[in-house]
Amino acid sequence: RTARFTLDPAFTVGEVNPRIFGSFVEHLGRCVYTGIFEPDHPTADAEGLRRDVLDLVRELGVTAVRYPGGNFVSGYKWEDSVGPVEDRPRRLDLAWRSTETNRFGLSEYIAFLRKIGPQAEPMMAVNLGTRGVAEALELQEYANHPSGTALSDLRVEHGDKDPFGIRLWCLGNEMDGPWQTGHKTAEEYGRIAAETARAMRQIDPGVELVACGSSGQSMETFAAWEATVLEETYDLVDYISLHAYYEPLDGDVDSFLASAVDMESFIENVVATCDYVGARLKSKKKIDLSFDEWNVWYLSRTEAQVSALDWPEAPRLLEDNYSVTDAVVFGSLLIALLRHADRVTVACLAQLVNVIAPIMTEPGGPAWRQTTFFPFAQASKHGRGEVLDVRVDSPTYGTKKYGEADLLHATAVRAEDGTVTVFAVNRSRTGSLPLEVALNGLDLTSVVEHSALADADPDARNTLAEPERVTPHPVDGTTLDDGRLSAVLEPLSWNVIRLA
Ligand code: AHR
Repeated sequence: RTARFTLDPAFTVGEVNPRIFGSFVEHLGRCVYTGIFEPDHPTADAEGLRRDVLDLVRELGVTAVRYPGGNFVSGYKWEDSVGPVEDRPRRLDLAWRSTETNRFGLSEYIAFLRKIGPQAEPMMAVNLGTRGVAEALELQEYANHPSGTALSDLRVEHGDKDPFGIRLWCLGNEMDGPWQTGHKTAEEYGRIAAETARAMRQIDPGVELVACGSSGQSMETFAAWEATVLEETYDLVDYISLHAYYEPLDGDVDSFLASAVDMESFIENVVATCDYVGARLKSKKKIDLSFDEWNVWYLSRTEAQVSALDWPEAPRLLEDNYSVTDAVVFGSLLIALLRHADRVTVACLAQLVNVIAPIMTEPGGPAWRQTTFFPFAQASKHGRGEVLDVRVDSPTYGTKKYGEADLLHATAVRAEDGTVTVFAVNRSRTGSLPLEVALNGLDLTSVVEHSALADADPDARNTLAEPERVTPHPVDGTTLDDGRLSAVLEPLSWNVIRLA
């Protein structure tokens, strides 16, 4: 059976905020050390940043880059990470049982962003696990105040004359999770988040603040956590965070392929909770969603790795190698974010390099693109503009976790110049999926490109030995006649169809 939908510029979801193509650099494993930063690498620049990685980061099209964690931030002492490198202390990183050398710190992070280019924006997390209001304010003063105070002058003395201009701040990380250093109840966290937000706004009312939501929809405290935290912080913050990771459990690939069903319901449930609190408070303000950690992560395989560590420096951790199947699920998660562009206005792919990442590196060796690199780069490049409301009529398949799920998952974005890009996933592992799209009121006459990521071997991956085994390929036979787009989506495929 054919899958169908209609596109009509009169029916839209909302404008894509470029920040939804954000990513995340945590002091975890080799994300920083031998990932983005490796002073001895043949491509390293004067600041120790790998130029080969910088090139790939630019090609990926990332915008906001969250830093320095993650779980790491709940033990982070920002002052350890600034000033002369030789004076920076080595510290235990409790989150990842590793030793943090602080060789790379705040100033290096800002230098990294500036080298990516103007599209890159800092998104800095403050430690509300082992620390609180005072340290958040000190960090803000050090980073953002022009000069003339002890901490801003210290930044200047450290060589950073210009303030870092950090607008977007996360008030802690996953404070609902019992694994978090300094974990709190919703009431405790709501209070400290509110007090930190209030004080940070005293320095600068223009900061944008993200309160911690749940670490996942399956958390026992989910939704009650959001409601309690927002009751305390509603007028003080701009965003609530969501985190979600997906993997096939017990070999259940069919449910894994429908992971976006969970992601979309998570988003919709958080929107409902935010609006419930807004209604209770009789507020006109709307809280936006910051989906600041999302990805495919083989979490169940990696948990044991951390407890076995004996405080190494930059160990190989969470270095998942992604298959074609993983990339199709990943593309579907991107579609889920775009489909909710009206409320999800920040999102960060966790993470950027080596650690559950689209970019991999070898110390002293090359950098390459994982399968997941391609959907992200294509979505960031072509997914800018207005999201059209896509209601699919699709054949379905049975899943253990989500019941009947659509084989087609899709969205479409209309750029300022009127061109439209359709992003579509065929979740079928066995069959091609014919697709028909009716284009109403859109002045489109040609198919510019139909690109697909699919492979006869759904387990194919890019590796150090074979870094270009999987890349997107052009698809022939896609047509646009009389306002009707016809395409065939290969089994288990991520598709980008550009229309002009
Ligand atoms: O991204 C890896 C980890 O996942 C982060 O440190 C944490 O916030 C989440 O649990």
